[in-house]
Amino acid sequence: MKALILSGGKGSRLYPLTYTNAKQLIPVANKPVLFRVIEAIRDAGINDIGIIISGGENGRRVSDAVGQGKRWGVDITYIEQDAPLGLAHCVHIAEDFLGDDRFVMFLGDNVIEGGISELISEFENSADNCQIVLTKVEEPQHYGVAELNPDRTIKQLVEKPRNPRSDLALVGIYMFDKHVHEAVQKIKPSWRGELEITDAIQWLVDQDLIVHPYIHRGWWIDTGKPIDMLAANSKVLEELTPKVNGFVDRDSQVDERVFVEQGAQIINSIVRGPTIIGENTRIINSYVGPFTSIYHDCLIENTEIEHSLVLEHSALTDVPARITDSLIGRNVELSHSELKPRALKLTLGDHSRLGLV
Ligand code: G1P
Repeated sequence: MKALILSGGKGSRLYPLTYTNAKQLIPVANKPVLFRVIEAIRDAGINDIGIIISGGENGRRVSDAVGQGKRWGVDITYIEQDAPLGLAHCVHIAEDFLGDDRFVMFLGDNVIEGGISELISEFENSADNCQIVLTKVEEPQHYGVAELNPDRTIKQLVEKPRNPRSDLALVGIYMFDKHVHEAVQKIKPSWRGELEITDAIQWLVDQDLIVHPYIHRGWWIDTGKPIDMLAANSKVLEELTPKVNGFVDRDSQVDERVFVEQGAQIINSIVRGPTIIGENTRIINSYVGPFTSIYHDCLIENTEIEHSLVLEHSALTDVPARITDSLIGRNVELSHSELKPRALKLTLGDHSRLGLV
């Protein structure tokens, strides 16, 4: 089997972080979401991976970060998509790469509990033409939605229905055989101008091909918005096996659910897990609370932070209020200043959001 990872898109709901970074490269628990996707595919025994990237800088950022795949023992082929014309369009432009092989398509910003090994082996050993993954969600209108018959076969699939007929959403992981190539040719663009993979799968159902719905019972997060990034971060942190590879001084209290990466230093601080402190990051006279990931080469000094994500090379010093529910990008400096006038002095990127107390 092959794999196709979709890693294009602007990530506009994560502005300003995604002005300078691809959304799939934002880390949860100190590892880019896309790397987690590649590992899940590799762990399911698939080595031949195509990645759809957008043209221009964002695509280059992905290929620079991932490379040829040697780090994971996989082969990566990049396929450029000129414009965001939909998930089914991605399958279409990947046809040369995919050939007649069975493949899994995985959205590069999805994080799922338990990996995909079981899903892949179930599909590989079946006569199914397609396997979709469904899970119960609270707001199905934001997803592709499946209605099942009493015998659990698929009745209908609708992309972002206004009045959903069920609460079963399509997870961003799909398995196909070669029939999908005909399906993506047959469908028409949706109201949002995209070739929807949901419509392509409905076409397979209409042709009486076998589309198997797999119900996923663990957690699954599509990391489109800041709140989703924090939720995914919390879930993955809860699964981490904690370890202290860095230095913790005698004046610090670090609870047992904390992962301290190499070269990190914790000095006179309290760190409560689940939390990860990245390589060469220093935590000095500070409090780092549960569900926080501080990436590499950061400084947290005289500051309190919890339930937040801080990306590399950022420094938070003498911050006068506790930081919570926050996403802080790369090379950010946040500090208290004694210089007059006594005022907030801000340099914020477009679409920044600041909640002051
Ligand atoms: C896409 C699919 C949708 C699916 C979702 C999963 O939505 O079109 O059917 O439920 O991914 O993340 P989009 O992210 O394009 O809005």
